Amino acid sequence: MKIIIINGTEKHGVTNRLKEMFLEPFREKAEITEFYLPKDCPSFCRGCISCVMRGEHTCKDAEYIRKIAEPLMAADLIVMTSPAYVMHATGAMKALLDHFAYLWMPHRPAPEMFSKRAVIITQCLGAGANSAAKDIKHSLSWWGVSDITVFTGKLMGEIVWEKLSEQKRLEFTKRIHRLSKKLSGVDYDKSSRVRVSTKIKFFFCRMMQKSLHKNDPEYFDGKYWAEQGWLGKVRPWKI
Ligand SMILES: Cc1cc2nc3c(=O)[nH]c(=O)nc-3n(C[C@H](O)[C@H](O)[C@H](O)COP(=O)(O)O)c2cc1C
Repeated sequence: MKIIIINGTEKHGVTNRLKEMFLEPFREKAEITEFYLPKDCPSFCRGCISCVMRGEHTCKDAEYIRKIAEPLMAADLIVMTSPAYVMHATGAMKALLDHFAYLWMPHRPAPEMFSKRAVIITQCLGAGANSAAKDIKHSLSWWGVSDITVFTGKLMGEIVWEKLSEQKRLEFTKRIHRLSKKLSGVDYDKSSRVRVSTKIKFFFCRMMQKSLHKNDPEYFDGKYWAEQGWLGKVRPWKI
């Protein structure tokens, strides 16, 4: 099986520690590709909309994005991590998610996304881990991923793993091991179940693309939907 990991920080702190513990049962059996932000995508979206209007290869940051998009498409499991910074995912993570706007369902979702599973690992000192996870989940779900598991935690005191109380470390270790045990037992040859909410999003976007394509058959997104067969009877979760 293949795993892609996208870390919202380069720091090898608590989030990284949790991610490493999560990966333990996968190390032997999975091909793992890992990215650290901002190192692996150090640039911001400048809002030119070229990815949407003319294709992602026209983005000024296309080289960075291609290097991440390829293993993203190939992955059976997507792992995204971020500590909470000012109650949200890190700016580096948000900068990457902006670059993937073209993958959102109202534009050109990748059919591969509908069968994938994802895990989000976030933690914070006191408050913000849930909203950080939500920032990432929002993109994943609009990319078409239905099966998203979220791990959040609060350190409540110290921010360095070694200085945390024995009880806190034990709590985090137990919880992350429980999650990795559950997810390493999944049969990744089988596609994930597609949620009704994903199908509803898809059908609304399909209605919009149908009308856009009718008005302008050259419109980039509409053309993509037509080529996938999605304006007809083909559905991305039935491949
Ligand atoms: C810029 C910045 C903003 C932060 N904002 C929050 C916050 O809103 N809520 C919170 O509980 N902790 C906040 N923290 C603390 C981190 O979430 C916490 O230290 C976390 O454990 C860091 O994870 P790491 O060790 O993986 O880097 C912030 C830290 C930084 C550097």
